[in-house]
Amino acid sequence: MNEVFLNIVRKIPFFSFLTNEEHEGIVEKIKLHFFPAGHTIFRIGDPGDNMYVIREGSVEVLDEKGQIIAILGENEFFGEMALISSDPRNATVRVRENSELFSLDRECLLNIFQKYPLMGEVICHTYLSREEENRKYSQS
Ligand code: CMP
Repeated sequence: MNEVFLNIVRKIPFFSFLTNEEHEGIVEKIKLHFFPAGHTIFRIGDPGDNMYVIREGSVEVLDEKGQIIAILGENEFFGEMALISSDPRNATVRVRENSELFSLDRECLLNIFQKYPLMGEVICHTYLSREEENRKYSQS
């Protein structure tokens, strides 16, 4: 077990619903990445296989015209929508400043939904409010 990684994960509010033992389980399944400013993590229309939690830094969410629809920072997450709906990515995500992100694959997310319903609720609530925001945005 990588103690350094475990300590990083313990401090992330996204994972704060989990007990110490559960942190150890989750650490086996998630990955930590560094992305430089300007890097595109994925594009609108891509298939989705991971969601991301921002440990440090920020990203821009862009629509099909390349306009910024949201800026997400520390402790926020993105990429959950394609994992939940199985639709392609509904926006492009580009790194705004050098950033560190955790990635979780679909299996890990399903595991979270099953084992940690409170976390599942937080993720689903955000999903629904983003969906609603995008619906209004596309109608305006
Ligand atoms: P996904 O569709 O997998 O890939 C693009 C991601 O951008 C999407 O999941 C959300 O995580 C994020 N996203 C889409 N619309 C918004 C929005 N209005 N506000 C914040 N994030 C969004």
